[in-house]
Amino acid sequence: MNEILKKAEIKHILKREEIIFLLENSSIDNELFKTADRVREKYVGNEVHLRALIEFSNICKQHCKYCGLRTENKKIERYLLDEKTILNFAKKAVNYGYKTVVLQSGESDSYSTEQIINIIKKIKSLGLSLTLSIGEKTFEEYKEYKKAGADRYLLRIETTDKDLYKKLHPKMDFENRIQCLYNLKKLDYEVGTGCLVGLPGQTLSSLADDILFFKELDADMIGLGPFIHNPNTPLKNEKGGSFNLALKVMAITRLILPDINIPATTAMETLNSDGRIIALQSGANVVMPNATEGEYRKKYALYPGKICVDDTPAKCTTCINSKITNIGRTISQNYGISRHFIKRIK
Ligand code: SAM
Ligand code: SF4
Ligand code: FES
Repeated sequence: MNEILKKAEIKHILKREEIIFLLENSSIDNELFKTADRVREKYVGNEVHLRALIEFSNICKQHCKYCGLRTENKKIERYLLDEKTILNFAKKAVNYGYKTVVLQSGESDSYSTEQIINIIKKIKSLGLSLTLSIGEKTFEEYKEYKKAGADRYLLRIETTDKDLYKKLHPKMDFENRIQCLYNLKKLDYEVGTGCLVGLPGQTLSSLADDILFFKELDADMIGLGPFIHNPNTPLKNEKGGSFNLALKVMAITRLILPDINIPATTAMETLNSDGRIIALQSGANVVMPNATEGEYRKKYALYPGKICVDDTPAKCTTCINSKITNIGRTISQNYGISRHFIKRIK
């Protein structure tokens, strides 16, 4: 067995050069994926946690150059689900057996803090665990959401290469994004971050830095996926990221953060029709099926080819349940709190 992998499997430590070596060399990919799978089984078991994703608005004031929701994109029709519809989707998620909902949207002020708080309280009264993924907010706003009952927050750093970050995120501030993540930690959220793999200008060493950043932040969840190029963005002529490289970044992340939650992401399945199952067998332990209904799925157009846009929550639930049980894994019946988080806040 490769010595670097042997060490990582036991000690969960990798140096920057060792991560780069793993990213560069394809001859040990299978060994890497199998090692990450063993580490996943040892630390977080065979259960897969399902999170119902509600994409409640595609309105966004930001300018991320890769994303179809960026404010400059006039080619999508914007929507904002009203509170009643969001709650209706959340109630249906409960009926399908989900224990967590993820409320995700572009970054916007369409809803006031009070309105978001109200939505959080109502969702929590359904007995659900709640993850928010609504972008950069102030410490006070994060504090209010937490007080209202929000349990988790997803905010990808996207890339830790400061120059690249600046190029891809006009008018956004790298330091503020980092600050947001530390604020969320301070407020005792289960904190999720992650990166995009295959961004134009991104190097393998910057991906190694991303992985080391996840460890330094001591994140509880890491969600990452390939960058998929979108014709309605300034990156329309760029090549997208590869499924295999995204899978490798994910597997290495599992090696050095053995007890965190890692989703098999939608973007992975967009590039490979078995992408989420392959990811679940290479270190992942979470899936986030879409619980948004009707035309909104299509309108939440981050990138083209997004899976399940013509499907219903009922179909996605049956589909993902059977895919997971077919590989001998079980669907978790609990809230799926990150074991890393439980240990961290003790
Ligand atoms: N607006 C919030 C934020 O940015 O944190 C949450 C929603 S945002 C649409 C969720 C994630 O979508 C981002 O963190 C980004 O990594 C991903 N994303 C956006 N455009 C993408 C693309 N073209 N390919 C792959 N993932 C993309
Ligand atoms: Fe807006 Fe998030 Fe897309 Fe950036 S990634 S444009 S913040 S929805
Ligand atoms: Fe949506 Fe398979 S998860 S159809």
